[in-house]
Amino acid sequence: MNPKKIMNLTLLLALATLSGCAYRYYLGMHGPTIRNYPEIHIDSIRDDAQCLACHKPDNAENAPPTNHPGFKGCLKCHNDPLK
Ligand code: HEC
Ligand code: HEC
Repeated sequence: MNPKKIMNLTLLLALATLSGCAYRYYLGMHGPTIRNYPEIHIDSIRDDAQCLACHKPDNAENAPPTNHPGFKGCLKCHNDPLK
């Protein structure tokens, strides 16, 4: 095999593994969806501050506390449609 072919193969492999990882990362990073509890998570709840009012780690509500209160855009990860 000439060096150029090896280069191309390496690139191809790198691309394949990278995109594979990105895909798994995307899947793995999604948390449980707020749509599991539509009676609590009503449509007017959109902002991180609202989520944190109930889900901050030292909350007094009976909501499960989040271990990542510093994250931005809660709904990016917690608004998946129900299967
Ligand atoms: C009024 C308080 C309140 C607000 C505001 C609120 N939640 Fe919740 N949330 C709860 C309660 C209570 C539960 C637990 C429901 C149960 O276990 O019966 C819950 C459950 C959850 C769960 C776990 C779902 C599961 O299936 O395990 C996630 C994730 C969540 N909320 C995220 C959010 C996000 C993101 C927001 C902002 C868009 C938000 N919540 C706003 C009260 C709230
Ligand atoms: C990058 C994606 C991502 C973002 C952004 C994100 N979360 Fe999460 N969240 C997850 C994942 C993944 C889990 C499940 C694994 C874990 O507990 O760390 C989770 C778990 C939770 C749980 C625990 C649910 C349970 O049943 O115990 C709560 C509550 C929660 N998140 C609330 C929030 C709030 C509030 C915000 C915004 C401040 C937020 N999340 C932002 C990915 C995210």
